[in-house]
Order: sequence, then C-alpha cells, then structure tokens
Amino acid sequence: MAYIKIPKGWEIPENQVTPESDYINRRKFIKDLGLASAGTLLFSTSNACAQNSALEKQLAPFRAQTLAAEKNANFTVERQMTDEVIAATYNNYYEFTQSKSTVWKRVERFKTRPWEIEISGLVEKPMTLDVDDLIKMMPLEERIYRFRCVETWAMVVPWIGFPMKALLERVQPKADAKYVSMLTFFDPDVAPHQHDARLPWPYLEGLTLAEAMNDLTLLVVGIYGHILPPQHGAPIRLIVPWKYGFKSIKSIVSIELTDKKPRNFWNIILPREYDFEANVNPNVPHPRWSQATEWMIGSRERHPTLIYNGYGDAVAHLYER
Ligand code: MTE
Repeated sequence: MAYIKIPKGWEIPENQVTPESDYINRRKFIKDLGLASAGTLLFSTSNACAQNSALEKQLAPFRAQTLAAEKNANFTVERQMTDEVIAATYNNYYEFTQSKSTVWKRVERFKTRPWEIEISGLVEKPMTLDVDDLIKMMPLEERIYRFRCVETWAMVVPWIGFPMKALLERVQPKADAKYVSMLTFFDPDVAPHQHDARLPWPYLEGLTLAEAMNDLTLLVVGIYGHILPPQHGAPIRLIVPWKYGFKSIKSIVSIELTDKKPRNFWNIILPREYDFEANVNPNVPHPRWSQATEWMIGSRERHPTLIYNGYGDAVAHLYER
C-alpha cells in the first residue's frame, strides 16, 4: 500500500520507508562504531529517550488495564515475538495519518470507551452491545499469530480476543446470510484524515460467512496482556491471520450479515491492486512489488512469505474450487 496522494499518488511502497525504530537502531549502531560526533550522538540519544518516554506515557493507561486470558497453546509461532514498543509505533491507521511512525501520537483525542457495537442484518437475534459487556460475555484467549501486511512487513504479536464465530453463533445467522460486512467508526473531528472526502470513509471490510466462522478469525480486544491501545484499533478489531493486514479492520462499530458481497476500502480505491479475498500468497505479486519475501518490523530480518501466511492447514479448504 502506498501513501495516499490522490489524485496522482500510489507510487511509494511503504516498505521503502524507514521505520522510526530502525532509525533509532541505526543511530545506536553508529554510536557503537564510534563514528558519530559527540554532539550528534548526544542529540540523537536524547531524541530517542524523549520518544521512548512519550510512548511509555501514551501506553501506560492501557497497560494498566490487564485482561485475564488463557494462553492458547495451539497458537504459537517459531519466530521471535515483536517488541511491544515496535508494534505500537509502526501502525497503519489511515483515519489518523498516512505516516506509520506517528499514528500513536495522533490518537490522543480518540476516546474508545464507552463504545457500542451493533450486530445486524440477516440474523435471528440482532444486538447492540457495549464493548465491555461483550468482553465479559466472551471467553477470552491469547493467541500468538504471524501478521503480514500487503506492503511486505510482518510481525508476531500476542492478541487477546475470541473467535468471531462465538459471537455469530449468539446472533444466529439466517440461512441466506453469506457474507459479513464490517465498519469502522466515523468521526472526522477526531480522525482528521476522514475529512478527505475523496476516500470512501468509513473504512469497511468484509469476509465470507465461512471465513468469519473459521476458528482462526478473531475479534481482538487486547494485545500484550492488556486492552488494545488506540493505534492498534481499540476497543475491538478483527484479526484474520491468513490474509493481508488490510482485511483486519480496526475499531469496529458494526457487523452486518448480508447475502451480497461487501465492498472493502482498498478495493474501492484501487480495485486492480487489492482484491476482496486478499489471502497471503508468495506466488502472486502485488502489481508494484514482489510478495515472495517479508521483513520483520524492528529487526528487518527477511523470511520467505508463506502461503496463507502459514495457516493453510486451517483455511486452504475454504478456497478449493
Ligand atoms: N483499519 C482501519 N479502520 N483503518 C486502517 O487504516 N489499516 C489496515 C488494518 N486495519 C487500517 C485498518 C492495515 S493496511 C494494516 S496492515 C493493519 O490494520 C495494521 O494493524 P496494526 O497497526 O495494529 O499493526
């Protein structure tokens, strides 16, 4: 995905942008080699310290709200877990900004409690629930998943949530329900990029009902042991680990079951580049870059991309035609 520069943008893949954390690490490397002058060094070190302490301050109220969740031992990953600070400072949340390293600074006015989520459409029992009541209703678990963005960056993080199917079973989909359509909040006064009327706000995404009912599909309310901070899509978001990250819609206000294939944000903007299915696949390049490999945020370690992001055993059957 590229920076939004409508009307004539879409040229710079985000993976060419240096994340802030790498910038800080590079400074450390230079420092270790003794190549930086004392003055530059002092300046960059104090910058990094100021940035870290501001982030610690931003995360503190969310870290204080821990969530009791059983670790699900079926979902662990052989790769090293991404550091929380790295994950919290490298985000895609276009409602706030296109600059990943500054999302966390732009979400200050975004209040994620109280928050209601409506489940409607082709269901026997439509409901509107307060997110904290929903959290109390659902058996929370922690799952460590690989996460792969279409831009080729990847991370491994411990999400806390519950399978979407547990909620769908409560509302009882009708026989003609075939898809699940989801919407993010809309409040341009809080999320300034939503003032850009050329983009199809609010952010919307969809799954087939079979995908939504798959055990891997999580509604996520926490990360690293505590409630989600706003930059990760508080108070409730989707995680579909075998699909590119843009399918994992943040800050959901509505879930609607329908018999029509839903539109999705990136497909409306660039239909030739982002499809509805968006399954991770090393053999299908993005029109502007290869998907054969991915890099881990923070370390920049490269790995071959795995088909279905390594979750083929659980999901490949959904796509057998
Ligand atoms: N949801 C909304 N509402 N707005 C967004 O911009 N970005 C998507 C997805 N969900 C996005 C969104 C993309 S492109 C990615 S890669 C992931 O969120 C990033 O999630 P993270 O910032 O928690 O890592």
